[in-house]
Amino acid sequence: MSKVKTVDPQEIKNFADMANDWWNLSGKCAPLHALNKCRIPWIHNQLVDSGVIQPHANPSAPLAGLSTLDVGCGGGILSEGPSRLGCNVTGLDAGEDVIEIAKLHAENLPNLRYVNTTIQDHAAANKEKYDVVVSSEVIEHVTEKEDFVKHCVECVKPGGSILMTTPNKTWLSWFHMIFVFESFFRILPKGTHRYDIFIHVDKLKEIFKKENCETIHTSGIFYFPVNGRWYLINNENPGYLIHVIKRPQMF
Ligand SMILES: C[S@@+](CC[C@H](N)C(=O)[O-])C[C@H]1O[C@@H](n2cnc3c(N)ncnc32)[C@H](O)[C@@H]1O
Repeated sequence: MSKVKTVDPQEIKNFADMANDWWNLSGKCAPLHALNKCRIPWIHNQLVDSGVIQPHANPSAPLAGLSTLDVGCGGGILSEGPSRLGCNVTGLDAGEDVIEIAKLHAENLPNLRYVNTTIQDHAAANKEKYDVVVSSEVIEHVTEKEDFVKHCVECVKPGGSILMTTPNKTWLSWFHMIFVFESFFRILPKGTHRYDIFIHVDKLKEIFKKENCETIHTSGIFYFPVNGRWYLINNENPGYLIHVIKRPQMF
């Protein structure tokens, strides 16, 4: 694996340390499991609204025929969902231990494969390969965000979709993701999140714009620790979901 700047070894270690807990529904990754109830329908609805898939084409496999790259897939909590809906999913993560957990858990899922690599190395060999690129709760752990986004964009076909979820960079996101999650409820180990590398929604939109992508939708997400559920909200605080489309090249 190349030693690229977007990969912070401490960030990868934080998640490797959770490897054995990844599929424990009430363990440290419980919020990621709970997030599936929000993010998978949101991704599906976004792909319907933007015309990537037809609303009622195939009820048992509504994402059939789509190829999706899940960047920073971890143990595969998100990747398995779309693959069960018929999507061909490639999950990529810079962490070797989490990829091993993902592979073990997905043993019988035929249209799901995992690779232990970086987005930079993957993009070099897979330019414009995917209909959809998703990256959920990852960019807040990446130091060189422009480079990370650039390579995510490279992997998607012109006209394709990129969907990300991440905390915003506001006092409320600090309060929610760091104070509430890590200090008060101790849902996550201290140090899992670093406010200094969070990214504000406007900054992420600006980076996508530079990469020739148009933002077509943003929503807010909020986790309520008392019942362990996430809610989609209108305000992009404390977390947000963003859907952009890669504009086709005109010449
Ligand atoms: C909070 S977990 C999210 C996992 C998964 N996306 C989900 O939502 O279930 C963050 C993941 O990002 C990975 N990661 C962090 N920095 C990365 C980078 N620069 N490139 C690829 N993966 C990275 C970590 O190894 C970890 O598995």
